[in-house]
Amino acid sequence: MNTVPIGVMDSGYGGLTVLQAIQQVLPQYDYIYLGDNARTPYGTRSYHTVYEYTWQCVQQLLAMQCPLVILACNTASAKALRTIQQVNLPQLASPPKVLGVIRPTAEVIGTYTSTQCVGILATNGTVASESYVLEITKLHPHIQVYQQACPMLVPLIEHNEHNTPPAEYFIMQYVDALLQQNNAIDTIVLACTHYPLLYHTIRAILPVHIKVVSQGSIVAHSLATYLTKHTALQQQLTQDGTTQYYTTDSVDDFNAKATLFLHKEIAAQNITLP
Ligand code: DGL
Repeated sequence: MNTVPIGVMDSGYGGLTVLQAIQQVLPQYDYIYLGDNARTPYGTRSYHTVYEYTWQCVQQLLAMQCPLVILACNTASAKALRTIQQVNLPQLASPPKVLGVIRPTAEVIGTYTSTQCVGILATNGTVASESYVLEITKLHPHIQVYQQACPMLVPLIEHNEHNTPPAEYFIMQYVDALLQQNNAIDTIVLACTHYPLLYHTIRAILPVHIKVVSQGSIVAHSLATYLTKHTALQQQLTQDGTTQYYTTDSVDDFNAKATLFLHKEIAAQNITLP
């Protein structure tokens, strides 16, 4: 079967929350998911390292015939997307498309907030990049953006320790620190693709008037719109509804943990990046 899939990458499992949402909106396409679990987390690493790792993942997906790759990782979107789009891709013949998750979120955030005060929970890398502040204020100059780095959360999720009292302790600390920056914050973006697994815990500790925004369906609808505007690309994609999963680490671990994200059994394959 000659498959031309959409590639989706993340440092680990987090991008599965985006893949799942994309597949709900666009079930007809074929997908390859690549989790760089062997090198997760990306969120505490330098620009150069995140760029190198992300570009290796993208190259792998391009070699697997993906003409379109989604960086389903805020850290990779914040630290690597621009260089990949502006430096790497133009050097390729018939350049493929690589898209991130920050821009689509920034585009719609104005529809969520009434107070024009938005909070961002994200990794150290995403926060330090200021990508959300820059993207949101460029599109919505009247919105104030407040950020809180949450370095403990990705490791807790990757190790399936996120429903434990220690995890709740860290979540409370991070949410409190965010809200202390401005008590008019009425919208909190889960700006790390791992965090939707914490949605219910975060929702439960917040007053009801504060909205908690997961990115999955935002990215999915943005992609659907993008494909309607890029018909040549859309027509290249095969539509057999298949998904292949690859991990740079243990297949058994990936299969077990992916079930927590996807609520179904999958059979991943191991891959060594070039
Ligand atoms: N899911 C990635 C993100 O959205 C996690 C980053 C990490 O590996 O630290 O930022």
